[in-house]
Amino acid sequence: MSANAANNNGGEILLDVSNLHAHYGKVEALHGARLQVRAGQIVTVIGPNGAGKSTLLNAIMGALPTSGTASGKVNYLGQELASMEVEDRVARGLCLVPEKRELFATMSVEDNLQLGAYKRKKNGEANYMDQLESVYDLFPRLLERRRQAAGTLSGGERQMLAVGRALMSKPRVLMLDEPSLGLAPLITKEIFHIISDLRKTGVATLLIEQNARAALQVADYAYVLEMGESVMEGPAAELATNKQIVESYLGFSKH
Ligand SMILES: Nc1ncnc2c1ncn2[C@@H]1O[C@H](COP(=O)(O)OP(=O)(O)O)[C@@H](O)[C@H]1O
Ligand SMILES: [Mg+2]
Repeated sequence: MSANAANNNGGEILLDVSNLHAHYGKVEALHGARLQVRAGQIVTVIGPNGAGKSTLLNAIMGALPTSGTASGKVNYLGQELASMEVEDRVARGLCLVPEKRELFATMSVEDNLQLGAYKRKKNGEANYMDQLESVYDLFPRLLERRRQAAGTLSGGERQMLAVGRALMSKPRVLMLDEPSLGLAPLITKEIFHIISDLRKTGVATLLIEQNARAALQVADYAYVLEMGESVMEGPAAELATNKQIVESYLGFSKH
């Protein structure tokens, strides 16, 4: 296994994270994590529960809980993000679908989608709803249910809505925190199909998953995060057959 980033072929580097450290008080959650996301790619970070995956995404987004602090390099579109507000990161096309989907249960599906374009509306973009059609193309079920309250959706549909809402902000890099968490295997399969379809929209995806098997199938490139450290990386297809990965992450997977 080469840890050589030169293997990470693809378009231009959109997101470049290196030597990232994060703490919650005295607890160290990230200890020199690194990753790159290039245009057109699906990149996955796999790792066990507690490895620091959510912390990694939240640190990139600048959205750690108040008890958390991060240091290191997060470069997005050639710019250091260190002190940039979350709102400005979103405006530049960096978007996170957190583990808690944070939908508005009593609002309709379409109103939830519209909220995803809120910043674009606020910034005076006349065509702030221009992604709606492609979101409905990607998720025909959301179109069927567009007048339905979000709280009445199934788990899988809620996940679709959370991703759809993120796409309304027209991101360049979409970060998904465990999109398959709590979903039945069949629904998980459907969600991963959709993630694969995201390529067509031109967005680059950073996918965090405990479901290593499904994540390695859909991704181009993969990193393994263990105890806050990026311990391995390579083309996803190579990692999927790597003996160590198979033994640690794929051997007993039910999916
Ligand atoms: N808000 C928090 N306060 C204190 N410790 C936290 C907090 N969030 C996460 N941690 C700790 O940081 C480590 C990494 O957590 P997390 O990033 O959620 O891992 P993962 O997403 O890989 O399961 C764990 O040891 C976890 O207990
Ligand atoms: Mg997590």
